[in-house]
Amino acid sequence: MKDSNYLKERNAKSIWHPMAHPADSLNNPPTIVTEAEGTRISDVDGHQVVDAVGGLWNVNLGYSCEPVKAAIANQLDRLPYYSIFRGTSNDCVIELGDMLQDFFAPDGLTRAFYTSGGSDSVETALRLARQYHKIKGQESRTKYLSLKKGYHGTHFGGASVNGNANFRTAYEPLMPGCFHIPAPYTYRNPFNETDPESLAQLCLQALEDEIAFQGANTIAALIMEPILGAGGVIPPHESFMPGVRKICDQHGILLIADEVITAFGRTGSWTGSRHWGVKPDLMCTAKAITNGYFPFGAVMIADHVVEVFEGDTEGKAAIGHGYTYSGHPVGAAAAIACVTETLRLNVKDNAAALGQQLFEGLQKLYDDFDMIGDVRGGHGLMCALELVSERATKKPIDKVTPVKLQKAAYESGAMIRVSGPNVILSPPLVLTAEDVDTILAALRSGFQSL
Ligand SMILES: Cc1ncc(COP(=O)(O)O)c(C=O)c1O
Repeated sequence: MKDSNYLKERNAKSIWHPMAHPADSLNNPPTIVTEAEGTRISDVDGHQVVDAVGGLWNVNLGYSCEPVKAAIANQLDRLPYYSIFRGTSNDCVIELGDMLQDFFAPDGLTRAFYTSGGSDSVETALRLARQYHKIKGQESRTKYLSLKKGYHGTHFGGASVNGNANFRTAYEPLMPGCFHIPAPYTYRNPFNETDPESLAQLCLQALEDEIAFQGANTIAALIMEPILGAGGVIPPHESFMPGVRKICDQHGILLIADEVITAFGRTGSWTGSRHWGVKPDLMCTAKAITNGYFPFGAVMIADHVVEVFEGDTEGKAAIGHGYTYSGHPVGAAAAIACVTETLRLNVKDNAAALGQQLFEGLQKLYDDFDMIGDVRGGHGLMCALELVSERATKKPIDKVTPVKLQKAAYESGAMIRVSGPNVILSPPLVLTAEDVDTILAALRSGFQSL
């Protein structure tokens, strides 16, 4: 490894960072992470902290998951790559397909389409949804609905259904035919409604209104995260997703669950849809499917959608979509080991229990620091603090304070993520109670330092 001075000096002179201003990366050198073990990461200066970000919502099993590492190494030796485009397959994708069929059986999902990550999974689901209607002879169904505050990656399709201007404005014009409805975000919403159940009903009414306005027969699909993640961890009332499912059914609209962060246990249930008792038509997964060790994803497809594609006799269901790395054997081998470990360790129960401990600890911080306007969580290991400069008026926080908080918390033992006014916590699901205490103590000392 190059020495620390070289790395710090060269970083922003040779690369641009995703989700960062290039000039800011030059002026404020990032933390250079060089090693990791268990739930902890170490930087180039040897400072070790608990990773309360879990990589990027993906390292659910921590950094020392030997079965996944071994699976990757062995597969690289045996078959490092082969494509699964028409005419070829590999043993790993078939074995993984069977595993995923079992894993997602309670969600009613019976086929996998492999991708190389979350944005690819979203793109795949959006495309398959349009094709589904075309096979059925409903060519007019091309539009998409989604939630404001939703995050669906950064491909043009995903960015078009994305509900946050930060990921849209610089890249407009986006795809036509995408329409957004209000999110069930109790802290701030256009209805000034603070009761979660009433707000869920109002958002559902807005959805029905939009469908009536657009015409149901023009809409292909609605895409949503079961719990909004990157938009600031927004858990809806339990009636919301079932309500969306019902409305989609009434109007022949496919429901795409974007579970790139919620699949595989993060919410305390194996999938976010299952958490709310909903069966989606398509489900996007990625991230934790390989514990973040290899870029990989899978779109899971409901049985009734499968029947339409597989029953087509007119050639309309030929899939003109896929990636060089769809079904990469190393990714599939990693996923086989990862799903096996995920089930063996039953990480969803730890996520539920420690998610509660973390959420309660954050509520105590709320009592002590006025800068915290809202605490969100209570469904597994995904929590957020929304910072404000004045609690009474919910005046948004300035841009600098969250960054200072992040630095101070890091010095005190925890890597946290700040995104706009939100502190987002998505640690590995193999976290311990002591790790939770470390995260909370680091946050407390961060707030005290401001
Ligand atoms: C819900 C959701 N969908 C899609 C994506 C995009 O995934 P990727 O960054 O792997 O392309 C993300 C990434 O955080 C996500 O949270």
